[in-house]
Amino acid sequence: MIHFERIDSTNSYVLKNIDELEDGEIVIADSQTGGHGRFGREWVSRCTGNLYLTFVLKPHSYLYAANLTQYLSVVLVTVLKEYSVSANIKWPNDVLAGGGKIAGILCESSVFGGGIKGLALGIGVNLNMSGDDLCRISQKAASLNLLTGRQVNKMEFAEILSTEFFRHYSDFMETGFCFIRSEYEKYSNFLGGQIFVSDGGERFQYYAESLNDDGSLRVVDAEDCVKNLFSADIEL
Ligand code: BTN
Repeated sequence: MIHFERIDSTNSYVLKNIDELEDGEIVIADSQTGGHGRFGREWVSRCTGNLYLTFVLKPHSYLYAANLTQYLSVVLVTVLKEYSVSANIKWPNDVLAGGGKIAGILCESSVFGGGIKGLALGIGVNLNMSGDDLCRISQKAASLNLLTGRQVNKMEFAEILSTEFFRHYSDFMETGFCFIRSEYEKYSNFLGGQIFVSDGGERFQYYAESLNDDGSLRVVDAEDCVKNLFSADIEL
């Protein structure tokens, strides 16, 4: 494990150093100055009690790489259960607990020519925050310590998370979304309900019907037109 006190971003570090880093390496930072999330958003990473971790992955096949964030969201829900916290997944990979977002997951790839050199699969988990810290985050957030009523040992959490991640990683990379489908559906909080999707300044409403075999979301609009969403930020 590579541990930094402070770095711009564990994902960026992995992408910059992908040639030297080994498959399966884990990079952790106590704080990040350039933590980022999906759609180029900032991931505020000042709280040293929280987890900022990136897995270095160089699989034989990248066929199911797009579903790795969904796999990691299921892994996290499993780990949170060990802390007696029940969590949900909001498509594609937001993990929610106690009514707020407790973690964010972002997978970035290092590309060369027509190929991929490796992946930086990053996760930020709110483990030890104060109520005031939480209020400063723009969207409704949650932190594990506030849900369990006790401080969380960050390195112990990182150990449990990575063990759980690698337990079924190879099986998942051979099978894809179907491998986690039933668990993912069980933890989903959006299926069978109305969702909102913002796109190009407009807000659309759909019925979230089902998940396709590739992890994309099948939705139906008010005119009964079916659409498949591959990437979006949904609101419930
Ligand atoms: C999101 O919800 O938009 C994803 C947030 C991902 C944050 C993690 S923290 C560790 C890693 N380093 C980053 O800069 N981002 C990811």
